[in-house]
Amino acid sequence: MALSPEMKSRIEDRVNEGVRDYWYPVAKSVEIRADRPYGVVALGEKLVLWRGADGQINCIDDFCPHRGAPLSYGEIHGGHIGCRYHGVVVDGTGTVQQVPAMPDCPMEGRKALRSYHVQEHGDAVFVFMSASEATEPPDLPLSAELLDPDWTGFLCTAIWDVNYRYALDNLADPMHGCYLHADSFTLAFGSKQDLLQLDNHEDGFRVSRVGQVGENFDWVEFETPEGGMYCHLDIPYPPSAGPGGHMRIVGYVLPMAPRKCKVFFWRMRKVQEFERDSWRFLYRTRLEARHWNVLEQDRVMLEGMPDDARRREMLYQHDIGLAHLRRALNRAARDQLEAEDAAGNVAAE
Ligand code: FES
Ligand SMILES: [Fe+2]
Repeated sequence: MALSPEMKSRIEDRVNEGVRDYWYPVAKSVEIRADRPYGVVALGEKLVLWRGADGQINCIDDFCPHRGAPLSYGEIHGGHIGCRYHGVVVDGTGTVQQVPAMPDCPMEGRKALRSYHVQEHGDAVFVFMSASEATEPPDLPLSAELLDPDWTGFLCTAIWDVNYRYALDNLADPMHGCYLHADSFTLAFGSKQDLLQLDNHEDGFRVSRVGQVGENFDWVEFETPEGGMYCHLDIPYPPSAGPGGHMRIVGYVLPMAPRKCKVFFWRMRKVQEFERDSWRFLYRTRLEARHWNVLEQDRVMLEGMPDDARRREMLYQHDIGLAHLRRALNRAARDQLEAEDAAGNVAAE
């Protein structure tokens, strides 16, 4: 059935703000502490995170139930968060524990804020961004490299002033490697002309260059299971970059605001024992700065593109990856909106 113009525009809005019912990384593990709160914006919503006394991470709306001050400006007291403005104390479930300024205040004991499911993996903190608090989260989709102890790596994050879809499109576009990054340490090689191929697999797809493999950013795989989306790709390494073969990048992107996203890239290699130590040392001392240079080239290019580039673009064969990715996002958004509408209709009857 053809979609109504209204539904098309709702799908576009939903994709732009970020598909719901996905797990998204929001911070590095080390950033979430027991002695101070951490504020972050995810899918347009302000969240605050902190560690309880047991080390578990709490995540609730960053909004004081009294008058709306950001709880992330507050302090942690006995595992709960205290608002800086008038001292109201809220726990990790979003329930008001204490109103110290007012004896027997009826706010005490009220669940006033939404709380979110949180998991930690691979040095990152993931939050389940569902449309409704009642939604039970599916398993957190994790890249195999993050679960396999033979792989080791470093998580780097950066905030880019661009809609997250540009960051995903960039990852689905291997042909930019040999142009945008032509003067880099790792991506200066291979042919500048090729065709791309797209192969579907269960819960995902692979985009690869037809004419070469192992020379440049020649392939990327997107995984799109229920509950999230991520990708992995290889960056060929010259022998001077130490043991472990190609560098694997595992990428997730957090939509923050219409023109802001946070990229999470794990830079990984499959190395054990002393080779692992040697690669980690080499990375810290020599390679990390070079990788940041490459990432900066991506950031500057994407931030320079207009917000409505998608409406004026002329795609060609090399854009099959991002076209496929966009369809997957549209489908996820449409399924969600239809499910929400159906649930709304049942509730209204
Ligand atoms: S706004 Fe937070 S205690 Fe008043
Ligand atoms: Fe790039």
